[in-house]
Amino acid sequence: MAIFLDTGDVAEIRKYHGMGIIRGVTTNPSILMKSGVTGGMEGIRKKEIEIAEMIAPYPLSVEVTTNDMDEMRKQAIEFAGWADNIVVKITIHGPNGEMENLQLIKELENKYNVRVNVTAMMSAQQCFLAAMADATYVSLFCGRVNNMGYNCIEELKKLRYLLDEHKLKAKIICGSTRETLNIVEWLGAGAHIVTTQPSFLEPMIVHPYSKETVQQFLKDGEKLFR
Ligand code: E4P
Repeated sequence: MAIFLDTGDVAEIRKYHGMGIIRGVTTNPSILMKSGVTGGMEGIRKKEIEIAEMIAPYPLSVEVTTNDMDEMRKQAIEFAGWADNIVVKITIHGPNGEMENLQLIKELENKYNVRVNVTAMMSAQQCFLAAMADATYVSLFCGRVNNMGYNCIEELKKLRYLLDEHKLKAKIICGSTRETLNIVEWLGAGAHIVTTQPSFLEPMIVHPYSKETVQQFLKDGEKLFR
């Protein structure tokens, strides 16, 4: 079980990686945009290589920015060549439900030796089929599933059962965290990994009663030296 950071914020990655509590990072085009990346492919390359080097050998997911098959394949091979720990994110299907992505996922994993994180998935059945296509990671967007009125925990349990039962190699990444509690909740329900924005980690660490206890210890410790 592991926590990944879902961010392009290098300072936050450095901070939590330094604490030894994260085991990878995930990004997507929206995250890169929010973190101020500009300059097209060169901007993306610089940022992703900086993160990849910082967290190596832990994995960094980098998402393709196109839906054209040839272009996706080209980008995937290029991204994977930037660093050994880069995993390429491919969406389960195209913007209008085009299904060729699965063929590309299988090809990248088996022919080009590229590790793939299949992304933007909202159900156990989508993730199961992505795992059947040999994906290394399957990303279930749990917060978005809950937003639609479905229970992501049910999807997660079904999915973990299917992957274990069929001995598939794919690891489940739960994304779209919406609150701190999601992290332990989803890890407890079958996720191999939860990827979260950095802001949800501090409340996992800092507790008001721990603060009070530490203050008391320090105060009494001081008294011992009077
Ligand atoms: C995961 O890989 C995705 O980048 C992410 O968790 C999506 O989160 P959002 O639903 O908050 O955009």
